[in-house]
Amino acid sequence: MPSFVNPFSGNIDRKISKTELLQALRVDIASELEAIYLYDAHSHATEDPLAAKVLADIRDEEIEHVGELMALMRYLDPRVADLLLEGEGEVKEMMEDLGISQITIRGVDTSVGSLIKGEEED
Ligand SMILES: [Fe+2]
Repeated sequence: MPSFVNPFSGNIDRKISKTELLQALRVDIASELEAIYLYDAHSHATEDPLAAKVLADIRDEEIEHVGELMALMRYLDPRVADLLLEGEGEVKEMMEDLGISQITIRGVDTSVGSLIKGEEED
């Protein structure tokens, strides 16, 4: 189970460095993942249909937050973007080996590389 040293236990009286911000974002992402896990478990555990629907909706919003934070990390640290691309490339190779086609949502390439390509075109 992940355990992080909390870089901030509350508000601090100074602005943080980029390195500290990246560390904070890692904790933020972990917090979002934990929230996703809890909301998902709770939505599946209840027999109340409205509670299940609301909790599942909140879970999905937390997933969006992970996407926002990951995009911010890629923006702040190009090395993160490169490493994410490397990981994605490794999975794509495995997908090709297994005959699995490209991951798309609504016909759009949603890979990390697709976002970076889009940024380069701007
Ligand atoms: Fe969130």
